[in-house]
Amino acid sequence: MKRVVLTYGTFDLFHVGHLNILNRLKQYGDYLVVGVSTDSFNEKKGKKTIIPFHDRAEIVRGLKCADLVIPEESWEQKKIDIEKYNVSVFGMGHDWEGRFDELKPYCEVVYLPRTDGISSTDLKKALKVLDNKHIAELKKALDLISSIVEKFE
Ligand code: CTP
Repeated sequence: MKRVVLTYGTFDLFHVGHLNILNRLKQYGDYLVVGVSTDSFNEKKGKKTIIPFHDRAEIVRGLKCADLVIPEESWEQKKIDIEKYNVSVFGMGHDWEGRFDELKPYCEVVYLPRTDGISSTDLKKALKVLDNKHIAELKKALDLISSIVEKFE
């Protein structure tokens, strides 16, 4: 019989931290179900993604470790999915430590260490620096510097 592992996430701007946790979770069993948060669920959580749900789900679906990708549409669905997919292990990164302990009567619950130094939030901040307004500000600063340098030529 298959040992099923279940996890959820938004997986916006898919990065190596996402890949690491999914690969590590897969080692807890032999069938990994990944719930990807839909755009409307993220809206409810006050989270806005750069990549739309369909593409985020497709990227996760393309991973070797992911056996099944499902939409995550509500907080309440975890208990339902655990029963539906006969889940043995529910796992999340340790930023969620303790938050899903109420699932312990239904399956094993694990919180794994996050990969240091990367997150979708940080990537979004880095991208923001490259938006039009910031580029215009950088250009203005560069023009000012070159006009100062010219005075010394
Ligand atoms: N995760 C991880 N290591 C990272 C980033 C995320 O292990 N460096 C894990 C999270 O703990 C979670 C899963 O990846 O179990 C999906 O997390 P998600 O919230 O989609 O990714 P983040 O990059 O943390 O996004 P954000 O910054 O928007 O919270």
